[in-house]
Amino acid sequence: MTASDPYEGFRVDRDDSRGLVTITLDDPAKLNRVPLAARRQLAALFAELAEDDAARAVVLTGAGENFTAGGDIAAFMDATPEELTRLAWDVAAPERFPKPVVARLRGYCLGVGLELALACDFRVAADDAELGLPEVGLGMIPGSGGTQRLARLVGLGRAKDVVMRRRRISAAEALAWGLVSEVVAADELDGAVDRILADLDGLSPLALRTAKRVLNHVYDAPLSIGLELEGLAYGLLRTTDDFREGVTAFGEKRPPRFQGR
Ligand code: COA
Repeated sequence: MTASDPYEGFRVDRDDSRGLVTITLDDPAKLNRVPLAARRQLAALFAELAEDDAARAVVLTGAGENFTAGGDIAAFMDATPEELTRLAWDVAAPERFPKPVVARLRGYCLGVGLELALACDFRVAADDAELGLPEVGLGMIPGSGGTQRLARLVGLGRAKDVVMRRRRISAAEALAWGLVSEVVAADELDGAVDRILADLDGLSPLALRTAKRVLNHVYDAPLSIGLELEGLAYGLLRTTDDFREGVTAFGEKRPPRFQGR
């Protein structure tokens, strides 16, 4: 880490013409292991980008041929037990972030790598990706949301296979489980990410962040509460210019021009 490179274990690239921020886990010699400090820095970065109107979407990826082989193992001994209890809050940052986040997965996607990916909105993988949560082999458990998000996404039985038996999931299996939405050859991965970004481009940021908020926050609430919150959010959007513009543009048979208000 240097003054010009304020982050430990990852770098940030911006393409303001596309409203895109790319976060790259970047320590290829160590399979992009994630330093402990990086989790806090990632959470702070997502909080900053939430307020940054020029940033409309984030892609989270790894340098080279892997996403990441997980958290920096030795470093866990330098953290206090209390610090470890807070890791899940930091790794949930992409989920709290009010704009779309795409996880671009290649090679190893282990430990906190899978946990981060699970907190993203979209996961697209190269066919060489291997997903896993091997922490019990280290006398630990996945402690950054992995047990909970995985079980909710793919079911308790499959999650136990991954967490307790340390079963590593191939890209094809991850696709069949709904753990990733698309699997492509490695050299087509950027194209697949771009297609997701193109689908999102030009949509109302207000509608997108409201949809993300409703989907994420009421995911494990009872259906009656979820439907009530969905209805309230829908009613709130009715008061926005973007809602009016979407309906008007449809009637006038032209593309909508959303302003985000
Ligand atoms: N933390 C710290 N260092 C790691 C790491 C991690 N999670 N994963 C890999 N590395 C380092 C290795 O120590 C090695 O460093 P060295 O060259 O200085 O010895 C380097 O990255 C390359 O890894 P290596 O184990 O030699 O590669 P491999 O191809 O033989 O094995 C893995 C790849 C992913 C199977 C193996 O590295 C591994 O099991 N990593 C840990 C996975 C894990 O438990 N993640 C959860 C952590 S909580």
